[in-house]
This record gives sequence, C-alpha cells and structure tokens, in this order.
Amino acid sequence: GIDISKLRDLTGYVTLDIGYKNTGATKSAITFLDGEVGILKYRGYPIEQLAQKSSFLEVAYLLIYGELPTAEQIKNFQTQINHHTLVHEDMKKFFDGYPSNSHPMGQLTGLISSLSAFYPESLNSNQTAEEINLTIVKLLAKMTTIVSWIYKKSLGHPVIYPQNRFDYVTNFLYMTFGQRTEEVVIDPVVVEAMNVLLILHGDHEQNCSTSTVRIVGSSEANLYSSVTAGICALWGPLHGGANQAVIEMLEKIKADGGDTEKWINKAKDKNDPFRLMGFGHRVYKNFDPRAKIIKKACDDILEKLGIDDEVLSIAKQLEEVALKDPYFIERKLYPNVDFYSGIIYRALGFPTEMFTVLFALGRLPGWIAQWKEMKENKEPIGRPRQIYVGAVDRDYVDIDKR
Ligand code: ACO
Repeated sequence: GIDISKLRDLTGYVTLDIGYKNTGATKSAITFLDGEVGILKYRGYPIEQLAQKSSFLEVAYLLIYGELPTAEQIKNFQTQINHHTLVHEDMKKFFDGYPSNSHPMGQLTGLISSLSAFYPESLNSNQTAEEINLTIVKLLAKMTTIVSWIYKKSLGHPVIYPQNRFDYVTNFLYMTFGQRTEEVVIDPVVVEAMNVLLILHGDHEQNCSTSTVRIVGSSEANLYSSVTAGICALWGPLHGGANQAVIEMLEKIKADGGDTEKWINKAKDKNDPFRLMGFGHRVYKNFDPRAKIIKKACDDILEKLGIDDEVLSIAKQLEEVALKDPYFIERKLYPNVDFYSGIIYRALGFPTEMFTVLFALGRLPGWIAQWKEMKENKEPIGRPRQIYVGAVDRDYVDIDKR
C-alpha cells in the first residue's frame, strides 16, 4: 500500500533500476504491448489490422486523438496538413549550410529544433487546445518536407515543393523521388509499402526516444524541442539507428563471403563487442509482431518490384540459424522491427543513411501523442533519483600540491 513516489520520504530509501528495466514512469492509454506473447495494439486496435487496412495518416490521427477518424475528420486533417507543408523559405539556408555529406539525422535534429524559432507561437507553454493542435499539424506537415529535402540535398538535387493534391504519404514520396521535369507517377506499390512501414513504427510505448520526449516535455519545453530530443535519442544504434546498422552488418557479411554461422558465433562471443543488429528487444521476449508483418511485406514488395536482393537471403539465413541456436533461445532473442525494415527501404530506393530519418517520420505521431498525453495528464517534471557512490568528504588541494 506504499505510494512509491513517497518511498524516500517515508523510509529514506530510493528504488534503483538502472536503465528503467522495470520502472513504470507513467500511465498511458496510447499503446499496449505484451512482450511475452508478442502483442502490439494502438488504442486497442491490433497492429496487424492497422497495417493491413489503415493508412499512416489515419493511424497518426488515432494515436494523437484516441479514435479512428470519420471520413470528414480525416479529410479535414489532410486539408489542414496540406495547408502547412511549406517550410519557411529562410530554413533553406540551413540546408545550404550543412555539408552535403553530413548525416541526415544530424540535419534532422537541427531542422526540427529550428521550427520553434520559425514558429514561436509554440513557445507558449499555456497554449490552448486549438493552438496545440495547430502546432501538431505544422510539425506533422513540415516533417515530410524536411525529410524529403534532406534526401534531395544528399543527391545535390533541387528541392521539390509539396502539392496539395496528394495525400500525406504520396506527397512525401513525390517530394522525395519526384523530378521537376517529368509528369510524376508514384507507384501505388511503393505508397502501400511506405504506409505499412510508417504504421509499424507509429508508436511503441515508453521506449528510449518516447521517454525522452515525455521527460523533456515535462519541463514544459515546446513540442518541437521535445520531439527533437526524441530524434536525438532515436539516432543511437541500440534504438532507431539499428536499421542502418542492420544493412551495414548484412553488407559486411555478404562481402565476407556470406558465412552466417561465423557471424552468429561472433555475436555469441562475450569477448567480441559485435552484436547481431536487429536482434533482441528490451520488452519482446517473443517474436516482435511488427517483425512478422515486415518480413512478409519485404517478400511481397521485393517480388512486386522485381528486385532480387542477396542481403535478404543473408538476413533469412541469419534468422534461421539464430532461432535454432541455444544462445539466442535461452536469451529469448528474436528479430525486431528493424531486422527487415532496411531491406524494404533499400528496395524503395533510399540510401542507408536515410533509414533512421524514416523511422523518425513514422514515430512522429507517437511522440506527439505521448507529449500531448503527458500535458493533458498534468504530469510533474521528470526527475529520477540516484544512489551516490562518489567520494564522501574531501578538502580542496591547491594545484601546486596535487
Ligand atoms: N546479439 C547478441 N547478443 C545479444 C543481443 C544481440 N543482438 N542482444 C542481446 N544480447 C545478449 C546480451 O549480450 C545479454 O547476454 P548475457 O545475459 O549473456 O550478458 C542478453 O542477451 C541480454 O541482453 P541485454 O543487453 O541485457 O538486453 P537489453 O534489454 O538491455 O537490450 C537491446 C536490448 C539493446 C535491443 C539489445 O538486444 C541489442 O543491443 N540489440 C541489437 C541492437 C538492436 O537491434 N536495437 C534495436 C532495438 S528495436 C528498436 O529500438 C526499434
């Protein structure tokens, strides 16, 4: 019956849980996951149904506002977003300033953070619900433009401006792969694949980047800054950066002759820092349900696009060997969502360094929903405790005596 938040005042003790392996930091009504069984639901809807039947924008609406939209609500939402896809022209100076070979995630963190400078109404921590919604719409809208412009910059190509006639995902693909000189045809297979990938990345409860968004937002930092912090957290190879790391690993294995067993043994060797990227998960101790969907999507898309990718067969062999190996079985290590996502992104034509940026595009509605929920719940500022293990008492020593 003890209120854990009062534990220290009552007993003098704090709970120590490094890495928050079993510490609940909030109550949330957004995403349910059962890692032992392998279940994932957004607002109660199974991820399998959403991936099969919904669109990314509809899922974004569901995550942020809690309900599936009516036909009119989604139409209005799309219209509002189309209205805000342009970014301030002065922001183009940022694009010009970045070295052309700079990592897209480095650019994304800077550009999203800069939105608070260009759209300062977001700085008011007492925004009305309507004002918050406008900031949300602006962020969702401008993200597609910023991400596609980062890609265009990496090619040295001129940017393409958004068009109101397209839906969210098509507009993004148009700005990314469109050419100014041609009539643009966006392949529906590509639109469908992109929708599925983004839906699967939409939210994943209190992961590293989402917890970061909530903790930064709890200081009443604005939405753009809070989401930027999430993007920074996502970048690491143990989190969203894994999708880039997986393809780099598969390429290395291919160049090394494709001996998957050798690499599995490396991953098992405790004296070798190598880990099988795209394997293992803090919460899933069973198959990641997103990985199941993505594996099938990967087969379908490569077949539809007529692509034969050797790294896909290496990925499948690795999975097969690992799933039979006692090391992986005992530790309940299964492929996670990122094991196959990179192969699809590659088939769609994205360079490896863009993969984590695409993850951020997919996770954006989740970050927004969690930030909004944290505000609506009026959660207190996040501030973990610690166990101090440093020196107890020391007198200052003058520099000439050290
Ligand atoms: N390859 C080899 N061994 C592994 C792997 C792996 N990919 N993942 C975990 N292990 C081993 C650990 O060495 C440890 O072994 P031990 O008990 O003998 O010491 C055991 O499994 C438990 O691993 P932890 O690191 O304690 O698990 P944790 O929950 O802290 O880490 C994580 C989870 C970070 C995802 C980890 O599995 C990993 O590094 N995976 C590879 C990176 C990756 O794919 N990240 C993407 C995660 S999904 C996402 O963010 C979208």
